[in-house]
Amino acid sequence: MTEPSTAPTSPDAPQGSPGLENLLTEERRFPPSAQFAAQANATADAYAWANADRPGFWADQARELLTWSTPFTQTLDWSDAPFARWFADGRLNAAYNAVDRHVEQGRGDRVALHFEGEGGDTRTLTYADLQREVSRAANAITALGVGTGDRVAIYLPLIPEAVVTMLACARIGAPHSVVFGGFSAEALSSRILDAEAKLVVTADGGFRRGKPSALKPAVDEALAKDAPSVQHVLVVRRTGQPVEWTPGRDVWWHDAVEAASAQHTPVDVEAEHPLFILYTSGTTGKPKGIFHTTGGYLTQAAYTHLNVFDLKPETDVYWCTADIGWITGHTYVVYGPLVNGATQVIYEGTPDTPHRGRWWEIVQKYGVTILYTAPTAIRTCMKWGEEIPSQFDLSTLRVLGSVGEPINPEAWMWYRRVIGGDKAPIVDTWWQTETGAIMISPLPGVTETKPGSAQVPLPGIAADVVDDEAHSVPNGGGGYLVLTEPWPAMLRGIWGDPERYRDTYWSRFANTYFAGDGAKKDEDGDIWLLGRVDDVMNVSGHRLSTTEIESALVSHPWVAEAAVVGATDETTGQAVVAFVILRGDVAEGTAADAATVQETLRTHVAKEIGPIAKPRQILVVPELPKTRSGKIMRRLLRDIAEHRQVGDATTLADSSVMDLIAQGLAKPA
Ligand code: PRX
Repeated sequence: MTEPSTAPTSPDAPQGSPGLENLLTEERRFPPSAQFAAQANATADAYAWANADRPGFWADQARELLTWSTPFTQTLDWSDAPFARWFADGRLNAAYNAVDRHVEQGRGDRVALHFEGEGGDTRTLTYADLQREVSRAANAITALGVGTGDRVAIYLPLIPEAVVTMLACARIGAPHSVVFGGFSAEALSSRILDAEAKLVVTADGGFRRGKPSALKPAVDEALAKDAPSVQHVLVVRRTGQPVEWTPGRDVWWHDAVEAASAQHTPVDVEAEHPLFILYTSGTTGKPKGIFHTTGGYLTQAAYTHLNVFDLKPETDVYWCTADIGWITGHTYVVYGPLVNGATQVIYEGTPDTPHRGRWWEIVQKYGVTILYTAPTAIRTCMKWGEEIPSQFDLSTLRVLGSVGEPINPEAWMWYRRVIGGDKAPIVDTWWQTETGAIMISPLPGVTETKPGSAQVPLPGIAADVVDDEAHSVPNGGGGYLVLTEPWPAMLRGIWGDPERYRDTYWSRFANTYFAGDGAKKDEDGDIWLLGRVDDVMNVSGHRLSTTEIESALVSHPWVAEAAVVGATDETTGQAVVAFVILRGDVAEGTAADAATVQETLRTHVAKEIGPIAKPRQILVVPELPKTRSGKIMRRLLRDIAEHRQVGDATTLADSSVMDLIAQGLAKPA
């Protein structure tokens, strides 16, 4: 990638997706149609309204979009910055807002979830159904000893029970910690330990690529290690595969939940009561437990879902393809859509099972009107060819969203033309696990969109691009993306580690949130995201830490040292490439068999973290490039991984190392 001349001067300059160099010359513009603008939820006035009184704007949204059992009188308390409190003297319940109030207001018959299993099995849950299911689950979870404030780990496939469990936890005020089903027993174990979860909710397995894929064994393995806090495991029967059973600890969902009463009174909590913890990769090996609270989070989740996607709850059929294991699944599958009373689709499986048109078949079948997905999925579909989506009727689609990584203009144009019939506006939404909800995005019906740019902070959000000294860069300049004012859905901290919260986000620039992304302002002042500026990679829109994968690699007895970089990849945005130094004795014995080393270490990483973290490539090298202070210069390794001429190596402790590495790699294995 050619970096803009004004890019940050950090040793690890922004990484990006394919085609990002084109961004700087991208001149196509797509104004909203008059027809769309006339019916849009959001209007341009919202920016001025929010600018005039930012907290007041959010207080209005909180009153308008949520039902409070005790109305708040305080809006924002920032006196203990960077620890924010929003609407702190108000009380409410998240599940009541997402479910019960719709039933009470006569919308019980509206479909909340159209569930599509990978194998073609379906279930439809109305809001009234959801109220019964969530109440039953809340009663069952309470009976298992979970009380308000206790943590519950959720390790489930994307089936209705996953949504029901999250809401049941919210209903009793027990923060949930969802762990993506693709993570390993090891990763699950560290998350259970860190949150001191009292209950784990899992399934025998889920369906993945046409086959049952087990989950319960990973829970058993995680709990066998060390999990003093866990008292019970609640198990959903999904695939019917055999499971090991620990009597007294393990409980079947169909025994406990189905027998429980469908009457349950939601527990009122303070606005600042923790709603959930979600672990995400940081720049060190240990994942961060990002935690979010109730009132502010729900306000921004609902506001953004309504305005960025132009949701009309009575008529739209909304589909976000994210798994509940990620923040997108929390905010835009569970809380945003349900608080807004939307009808949505959830799909358990992969886009190519049993055929590559599966997603488009689902759009056609349910008449999906709003689709929210990731650039990596769009690029994969591009690769498969447009004749596949063109076999389906996609004419119902009226808004398209993108999230998780920079979208290259070529993929954006394809998405618009092939999926959106050249008419549906695209919203490229920038946000993070930490921000809780969308922060930077066009508003459909208001913003003239530009392929590849997230463009403007939403009303009520203050973002900027700054240089190393925290000065706002002029239009045309590049630097670091920062958020300059607190926002309602902001993380309230890192679970159990307030210092790490300060250090990670608030120490780089005074009183300003450092997002970790590089960005550029164009001539109009619109923001273009350029990728991470730290040791975090973005593979298929999933965050992975270089350090975490390095730790996994060196935990294998063959590996003496490891360095991991994210190399540009045409489909996944970035791909994991690892450089390893083998231990002397192993190196001797296996030097001839690079394939065995590759396979063994890839499997090891999958076991330690999960298959998503598997390196695409593992290169065995004799040395790693290090500065005099011992820091690995990943920039140089990235040059090798991306087949570029190696850049400036003068700050290396030993400048001949790069030649040594290059010679070693040139040798046949
Ligand atoms: O680098 C940015 C990228 O994803 C990171 C956040 O990852 P995560 O917390 O896993 O949340 C992903 C879903 C919200 C960001 O720091 N990112 C997310 N959305 C975009 C993006 N990069 C460019 N454009 C986006 N629209």
